[in-house]
Amino acid sequence: MQSTVIAPSILSANFAKLGEEVDAVLAAGADWVHFDVMDNHYVPNLTIGPLVCEALRKHGVTAPIDVHLMVEPVDRIVPDFAKAGASMITFHPEASRHVHRTVQLIRSLGCQAGIVLNPATPVDVLDYVLADIDMVLLMSVNPGFGGQAFIPSALDKLRRVRSMIDASGRAVRLEIDGGVKADNIAEIAAAGADTFVAGSAIFNAPDYAGIIATMKAAVAG
Ligand code: DX5
Ligand code: ZN
Repeated sequence: MQSTVIAPSILSANFAKLGEEVDAVLAAGADWVHFDVMDNHYVPNLTIGPLVCEALRKHGVTAPIDVHLMVEPVDRIVPDFAKAGASMITFHPEASRHVHRTVQLIRSLGCQAGIVLNPATPVDVLDYVLADIDMVLLMSVNPGFGGQAFIPSALDKLRRVRSMIDASGRAVRLEIDGGVKADNIAEIAAAGADTFVAGSAIFNAPDYAGIIATMKAAVAG
């Protein structure tokens, strides 16, 4: 099992002062920045692209930037994010015609690569790609919006993917995204997640350090 990572999703940050918001959550103990890219095509919402990623790097952000691509097609935008300073890039297999090729592309550009599975997407694709990726991201909401409720079937899926990762013997992170809160994170960690995305739970809290410490304590048990 990997070390615990808390990755605030900036989807719920105040975009009018994004640099300050990212500085604040990192100073408050966040480990990564989770960067949600939506194209109003693969998902019904439109957010931010490589320019904003690059702007955060120029602003001085040195923490890992975890780029979650909810776009179709995937391959065209990958080099732009690699250039813009992405540390890891995850994508939905439904959005790429050649999943293995996309993984190779991401890694050839020096980024870590991960596969994202929607709530109703089977885990079978992992049988053929787990040996080549650095992270599996399980969606516990349907992608597109922050602030939705955690879908309980994600817990069983976490347990399944945790056994697959353990059986592989590889250091693959298991990330969960959607509806993660202080009051369910312990159960989510027990099901096998080590990397936790939280948007509304962190950015809607009055005290970023307080909520991040509470989440980390809950994971540690
Ligand atoms: C949803 C995004 C998530 C989202 C999580 O499509 O991938 O990262 O921002 O938001 P919360 O934590 O509010 O469910
Ligand atoms: Zn996300």
